[in-house]
Amino acid sequence: MTSNRYWTLSDGPMPRWPQENTFVMKEGEIPKPALGQALTQTIYVSLDPYQWYYNRRRTAPAGAPCHARTVSRVIESRIDGFAAGDLVFSTNGWTEYGLMGEGVWRPDYMAPRKLDPSLGRISQAVGVLGMLGLTAYAGMDLLASPRAGETVVVSAASGGVGQIAGQLAKQRNARVVGIAGRDAKCRFVTDELGFDACVSHLSATLPADLAAVCPAGVDVYFENVGGKVFEVVLPLFNQSARMTICGLIAHYGDEDGGIDRRAALMKLGEPIFRTRNMLVKNLSVSDFALDYHDDMLAYIAPLVTAGKIKYREDVRHGLETIPIAFNEMLRGDNFGKMLVQVSPDPTLE
Ligand SMILES: NC(=O)c1ccc[n+]([C@@H]2O[C@H](COP(=O)([O-])OP(=O)(O)OC[C@H]3O[C@@H](n4cnc5c(N)ncnc54)[C@H](OP(=O)(O)O)[C@@H]3O)[C@@H](O)[C@H]2O)c1
Repeated sequence: MTSNRYWTLSDGPMPRWPQENTFVMKEGEIPKPALGQALTQTIYVSLDPYQWYYNRRRTAPAGAPCHARTVSRVIESRIDGFAAGDLVFSTNGWTEYGLMGEGVWRPDYMAPRKLDPSLGRISQAVGVLGMLGLTAYAGMDLLASPRAGETVVVSAASGGVGQIAGQLAKQRNARVVGIAGRDAKCRFVTDELGFDACVSHLSATLPADLAAVCPAGVDVYFENVGGKVFEVVLPLFNQSARMTICGLIAHYGDEDGGIDRRAALMKLGEPIFRTRNMLVKNLSVSDFALDYHDDMLAYIAPLVTAGKIKYREDVRHGLETIPIAFNEMLRGDNFGKMLVQVSPDPTLE
C-alpha cells in the first residue's frame, strides 16, 4: 500500500447545499506518523449533518480531507498507549488513511480513544455508543428529564440521534411521539423502536395529525429539525414544558449555516416559552463530552446489548460513495444513522 485516496473541498465559493462538484477525490501518499502520532486505516466514516456547516465554513485546513468522525485501525503507532492493530475512534475524515495525535487538526472534544469491541459493534462508536448516544442522553435525560406519563415529541425520529432520544424517554416511561418523513420511517419508529405514535412531516395535515396524537399537549420536545416542524409543535406546549434544541437541519443551507436560526427560533417561540413558563436549552454535545461520556456508555451500552435500545444504521460501501451518501443524509434519504464503510471491519470477519 502506498497511495491514499480522499475527498476534499473544491475551490471557490461554497453553495448552500452540496452539489455534484462540491467535493473532489484526490490521491496522495499515505502520511507518515511523526513522534506523538499514529497512522490509522479508516474502517467507517460517519456522515453527520453538522459536517455540512463545517465544510461550508471551511473549518478544516485547506486541502485536507473533509472532516468526519471515524472508526479506524492503527497501522503504525508512535504514541504511547496505542499499538498496531488497535481499533480506535479517530477523526480521519473522508479518507482511506489518516493520522491521529499531536498536531493533527480535530475539534477539541473529539480526542482519539481505543475501542472495546466487547461493548458493541465498533461502528456504534460514532453512533449510539459515541457522540450520538451522548447527544441523546445529554439532551433528553440531563436537560429535559421526562417524567413517567409525560408526552415527549422527537423530530427526525428515525435518524441517528432521534431514535436514541425517543427510546431514552421510553426508558423513563414517558409517552413518546416521533415526527419523521416517509411512511416506512414512521412505521419503523412505532413498530421497531416502540414509540407510541409517529406522524409524517410530509403530510399536508401535519398540525392536525400531531395534535391528534398529543391529546394532553407536549411536555418535552427534542428538536432536531426547526422550520415548519417547530412551528407545528409550538402551540401544543404545556405549562412548564421543556425543549432541547439539538439541531436545526432544515436550516443548514441558510446563509449563515443555520447558526442565527437558533436565535430566530427563540424569538419566534418567546411569547409561548414565557407565558407557559418553559425551560428551553440549547444543546452542544461538546459541553458534555469530558464529564458525561463514560456515564452515557455505562447506561446505554447494556441497554443496547439487551435489545432494550434498538439502533438502526444505514451503511454504504466504498470511499467513492461518500458525497452521494452525504447528500442523501441531508435530504432524508438515509434510513438510520448514515455510515460509509471504506475497508473491512476485522470484528465482522
Ligand atoms: N447539538 C449537538 O451537539 C448535536 C450533536 C449531534 C447531532 N446534532 C443534530 O441532531 C440532528 C440529527 O442529527 P443525526 O446525525 O441524527 O441526523 P439524522 O437524523 O440521521 O439525519 C437527518 C434527518 O433529518 C431529517 N430532515 C432533513 N431535512 C429535514 C427537513 N427539512 N425537515 C424535516 N426533517 C428533515 C431527515 O429525516 P426524515 O426523512 O425523517 O425527514 C434526515 O434523515 C441534526 O440537526 C444534527 O445537526 C446536534
